[in-house]
Amino acid sequence: MNLAFLISGDYPELARAEIEYLLSVLNPKVLGRVLVYRCYQSKLIERLALTREVVKVYALCSFYEVEERLKELADYLLLTFSGKCCVRVKYFSPASLEYFRNSAVNSKKCSLFLSGEERKELERSLGAVLWRKGLKISVSSPDTVVRVYVFPDSSALVGLLLHRQNTKQFSERHPEKRPYFRPGVMLPKLCRALVNISTARGSFLDPMCGTGGFVIEASLSGLNAAGVDLYPEVVRGCKANTEVFSPEAHVICGDATNLPFKSCVFDGVATDFPYYQSSRSLFSRETLHEKVAEEVYRVLKPGRRAVFVTNVDAEFSPLKITDVYRIRVHGNLTRRVYVLEKQV
Ligand SMILES: C[S@@+](CC[C@H](N)C(=O)[O-])C[C@H]1O[C@@H](n2cnc3c(N)ncnc32)[C@H](O)[C@@H]1O
Repeated sequence: MNLAFLISGDYPELARAEIEYLLSVLNPKVLGRVLVYRCYQSKLIERLALTREVVKVYALCSFYEVEERLKELADYLLLTFSGKCCVRVKYFSPASLEYFRNSAVNSKKCSLFLSGEERKELERSLGAVLWRKGLKISVSSPDTVVRVYVFPDSSALVGLLLHRQNTKQFSERHPEKRPYFRPGVMLPKLCRALVNISTARGSFLDPMCGTGGFVIEASLSGLNAAGVDLYPEVVRGCKANTEVFSPEAHVICGDATNLPFKSCVFDGVATDFPYYQSSRSLFSRETLHEKVAEEVYRVLKPGRRAVFVTNVDAEFSPLKITDVYRIRVHGNLTRRVYVLEKQV
């Protein structure tokens, strides 16, 4: 089936990487903030952090054909579904296309504009198309939402809403709302995306877990998650956090350069190296990078991935770098996100 992913605006490149690493997707088509793929398994879509919603695509068409496509979709729904539905329209302005320069939406032809009032009117008239076909309508509590995306070059996408993200969940786990807090840690949404980019399916490790940002997100994603930190007080703090948010996670005091695990046991690793600003370590930055890379290589299963975050350019041999993303935090801090693989 073809699925459309409406990505959130904050980290568009990572949002795309998260979808492509986590799910088995093919044939990408970029429509501004909407990424369309052929996808053979949709089970994991609820794990995505940087995707706002996922739509099962029924048609990619011109804006002027939407009514016809909806009539066909209504015929299909009448055969398969007996609940109530409604139509929700999202209009993308030309500015939203800037997220990806190679967008298939033709920015030279951007002449269609829909005001908020026109969008609502369109929802009413398209809802009436479904109603005339015999479908039951409920705007306040529909069982299914027919989603229509309208782009400013007069193209459109028609589909069924499969999943909508609960955006509140991340603010509920904001680092400042956890029992143990240290400044400068990554926000849960980003931690979740990096856990997903590690492609972990069963077991997950953060070898320098700090307050537990990655461990909590991995455990809440259903992974058997373990975190290690060198300092006992940090481990105590991390355990206080996991007890509240993810009691099944394991947090251990240990050294990331000499991990207390057997070889080839983890499906995925994600970690944020000390920045040598607010966090400490026994080793110099270069030695820590080198020794942690060797140790993570040992504990990862062959063919599996690690995601390392640092504030400098680095090599992580014997792991192979497959992608690097840069996240500018402020003038003095640009995070580098390294996607690494233990090659078979
Ligand atoms: C940038 S912080 C990690 C922040 C973490 N992602 C979080 O959510 O809080 C780096 C962590 O590495 C830990 N650390 C430094 N050297 C270590 C080592 N050799 N083994 C294990 N942990 C280490 C520090 O105690 C610190 O908590």
